[in-house]
Amino acid sequence: MAMIETQDVKKSYPSGEGLMEILHGVSLSIPAGHCAFIVGPSGSGKSTLLHLIGAMDQPTSGRVIIDGADLTTMSEAQKDIFRRDKIGIIFQAFNLVGNLTAIENVLVPFLPRGITPELRDRATEMLKKVGLGHRLTHRPNKMSGGEQQRVAIARALVKHPQVVLADEPTGQLDSHTGEEIFRILRNLQHESGTTLVVVTHDRRFIQPGDLVLEIEDGLLKH
Ligand SMILES: Nc1ncnc2c1ncn2[C@@H]1O[C@H](COP(=O)(O)OP(=O)(O)O)[C@@H](O)[C@H]1O
Ligand SMILES: [Mg+2]
Repeated sequence: MAMIETQDVKKSYPSGEGLMEILHGVSLSIPAGHCAFIVGPSGSGKSTLLHLIGAMDQPTSGRVIIDGADLTTMSEAQKDIFRRDKIGIIFQAFNLVGNLTAIENVLVPFLPRGITPELRDRATEMLKKVGLGHRLTHRPNKMSGGEQQRVAIARALVKHPQVVLADEPTGQLDSHTGEEIFRILRNLQHESGTTLVVVTHDRRFIQPGDLVLEIEDGLLKH
């Protein structure tokens, strides 16, 4: 069954007087538990597409269906809950909170509902899984880029999301650290059976069995 499906998705942004269409009708289907790569030149619409899949933005037309639910018919409040419960997101720039420790950063998604001791244990466990058991109370400015991205991975995965989205997750890292980040992501994905969608420039990380979606000028190449 498809975990992620888009049907003829178009996206336009206001530009000058009118609208500029960035995605010209993207239809794709990603089966549950698979790893999909979105590749293509800079400016081709990769991040735009990922944002639509993650319910962070709305398509201008077309449908986005995640785990059978049509995001385009949800209210903002429904989408907030959907994102919170189903989607883990990893960004190129890590997007950690500077004055929080590693463990507090991992717990950020739960702050609105309150942190229980059980959640704290889960966050600790997740940081250990990404190899940061010795960095629990470090703040981001005391960690390397690779360590910060591992905190971001722990934060994305601690809520056991069905879908993990990563936008150029190794774009700010050297190639060795990038490989390490992908090894961790793959292991966790394998272990938890999440559906992983990665935007990247770097085709080195693609493995046999992965779905490769090539986008150019707002269209998928087939
Ligand atoms: N919020 C926005 N408003 C206007 N234009 C945007 C916005 N976001 C992206 N764009 C434009 O859409 C195009 C595709 O951007 P993006 O999806 O970020 O590309 P990619 O991630 O493939 O580099 C670019 O030309 C970019 O300038
Ligand atoms: Mg981008």
